[in-house]
Amino acid sequence: MIPTQKIYSCKICGAKYPKWLGQCIKCGSWNSIEEEFVKKNPKKDLIKSDGVVKKISEIESLENKRIRFNDNEFNRVLGSGLVRGSVVLISGEPGIGKSTILLQNSINSPESVLYVSGEESAEQLKLRAERISENPKNCYVLTETNLEIILKNINKIKPSIVVLDSIQTVQTDLFDNSPGSTTQIKECASILIKLAKSTGLPVLIVGHITKDGNIAGPKILEHMVDTVLHFEGEKQHQFRILRSKKNRFGSTNEIGIYQMNEKGLHIVANPSELFVSKKENSESGSAIAVTLDGDRSIMIEVQALVSSAVYGTPQRISNGFNSKRLNMLLAILEKKAGFKIGVKDVFINITGGIKIEDTAIDLAVVAAILSSNINIAINNDTCFCAEVDLSGELRSVSNIDKRISEAERLGYKKIIISNNSKIGYVTESLQTHRLKNLSQVAKEVFREKD
Ligand code: TYD
Ligand code: MG
Repeated sequence: MIPTQKIYSCKICGAKYPKWLGQCIKCGSWNSIEEEFVKKNPKKDLIKSDGVVKKISEIESLENKRIRFNDNEFNRVLGSGLVRGSVVLISGEPGIGKSTILLQNSINSPESVLYVSGEESAEQLKLRAERISENPKNCYVLTETNLEIILKNINKIKPSIVVLDSIQTVQTDLFDNSPGSTTQIKECASILIKLAKSTGLPVLIVGHITKDGNIAGPKILEHMVDTVLHFEGEKQHQFRILRSKKNRFGSTNEIGIYQMNEKGLHIVANPSELFVSKKENSESGSAIAVTLDGDRSIMIEVQALVSSAVYGTPQRISNGFNSKRLNMLLAILEKKAGFKIGVKDVFINITGGIKIEDTAIDLAVVAAILSSNINIAINNDTCFCAEVDLSGELRSVSNIDKRISEAERLGYKKIIISNNSKIGYVTESLQTHRLKNLSQVAKEVFREKD
């Protein structure tokens, strides 16, 4: 065993201290300082080789060395396939489907995969594999938590891809801390990264997240790996989004949308149809918006319920939409458009359980509130796409062409946008209504129905 020294380090900023502290002096975070063991003479193994200097033009490109899985969404989020020698970290809440997506891709992989699990037994994995696929092909399974044994098996089997579920369960003999501690996570990850870089073997690692949504373990883990993917969604709902948070080999705008059913995860080719239920008769309090997530445009349905406040202070509750922004929109409606809703309870819900950060749905939120307030339904072939500013005017939004084409593709007849929008896309069946402010929107949408 290598001689070690005990120090205390902050898992957020990495500052080191000789003693434990409640608050990190450097970054100010509370309760972030953990015990860590470091090698006593780290400098010794730093000076190992002389290094190789190459001309950039002489270095072989990795682009044609990508491994493409059967799952196109997964390939897309990775930046059109998995680069050899890269290390990918997949994080997400417990039970969201991290093991499922990796096992699914492992058993359907075109190349041999060693799936190392420190969480489930081989029998449990077999059971899950049987649910997902009838024909598991090139997948080997190892249930082990000791890194040295894992490395020995990698050497023996020589797979093309290694999956490790999860980094928090592995342990190296170099240190005697328990698995999941900062030292173990950092050391195991750095050994795996060295292996990936020196042999060209790609490694996919599962990382647990903490209560506040960060990857459990040192923050530095995210800096060390090449790609960080986050798997998210509401457990009560079927859909899941795989989002790229960092990618050295592709765009971070890519998302993959899946649906979880009893046979594993399935690609959702048409997400808009999942989030919007097209009804024959429209009901009051519902408005359709076109939002953009990553590079994909998705239609979503905003529902609002406005009712007289039962208690003194009206309630403003929102699901899937920022509640501070909801309060702001209500204040704009009150002050700039003269709608008296200050004494009403307002509830907002984005159907399907999706969370939207995009401000382009502001107008749909406002329209749904107005519709519920006056109890008049909006035509179900109308959709909205604009940000609302503090003066009650409509602002243009990014990538308007992509949004308009999605609305037209789904058969909408009318889209309400800001009069400042610059459109390049020529619509055929969809009318674009360019409006200036909320009063014009109210007139346009509810006019024929008054
Ligand atoms: P899992 O991949 O174990 O989650 P994680 O590794 O992120 O903790 O997914 C577990 C959930 O997925 C579990 O609640 C059951 C559900 N599930 C299905 O609905 N269908 C399936 O075919 C599989 C394999 C899992
Ligand atoms: Mg799991």
